[in-house]
Amino acid sequence: MRFDACADWYDVHAAPQRAFAARVGAFIQVAPGEEVLELGAGTGALSRWLCEHGARLRATDASPRMVALGRAAVPQAEWFLLDAFTGRLPQATLQVSSGLLQWADDPAAVLGRWKASLAPGGRMVHAMPCDPCLVEWRALVAESPLIWRDEAGWRAVFAASGLRVIRARLWMEPHQFPSALELVRCLHRSGVTGRPRLGPGRLRAAIRRYDALHQRAGQVVSTWAWLALEAVPV
Ligand SMILES: C[S@@+](CC[C@H](N)C(=O)[O-])C[C@H]1O[C@@H](n2cnc3c(N)ncnc32)[C@H](O)[C@@H]1O
Repeated sequence: MRFDACADWYDVHAAPQRAFAARVGAFIQVAPGEEVLELGAGTGALSRWLCEHGARLRATDASPRMVALGRAAVPQAEWFLLDAFTGRLPQATLQVSSGLLQWADDPAAVLGRWKASLAPGGRMVHAMPCDPCLVEWRALVAESPLIWRDEAGWRAVFAASGLRVIRARLWMEPHQFPSALELVRCLHRSGVTGRPRLGPGRLRAAIRRYDALHQRAGQVVSTWAWLALEAVPV
């Protein structure tokens, strides 16, 4: 992924992710004064929501540029660099993320490590895009930087890590873009695409087909789905 290189454009090109961050914030049900550790905080979409609702937040990200932008946007939080997949997490009673876990090659192993850093009695809330997110694009282009799991698939990953899901919420909503080209640009410029997986000819053909299939009133529609799971150690 190219999050560090794209950090300065993330906010402009990540409208769906930012909209879901607010929903995840409400789902977390943070108590005033509660201490929270956020992983993969990016430019602070979820961080801002949590701080405005009384959390005492430690916000972290693996990208130095994201941390710099996040610190400027949400100075109430304490910000530091942390690779959540390989680094050592500080102990926390509430650990949260939005849009991070899907990037782990082995999310069950990562969750197992995150679980080990929970304080006794602690809980975690992690949210991520899930199938059928971007289903229209994925029907045209099989190559993806992600393994797409549905809600049952993510619940199985949590169970395999010795975690019990105690609450879940799936949001599914259409997002409009001026054209399929703009949708692809948004994905690319928000940093979520890695190395090019298909040549320019196939990419252009997929964009044309998307426009033909999904244009309504001058806009193209794209389905987004985001799943939040609250879990505790078994
Ligand atoms: C899709 S963005 C989500 C950012 C933010 N949570 C939001 O909802 O807008 C994913 C974020 O995860 C960060 N990230 C990716 N891999 C990471 C890792 N191994 N450890 C910590 N952060 C990571 C990226 O730098 C990026 O800021």
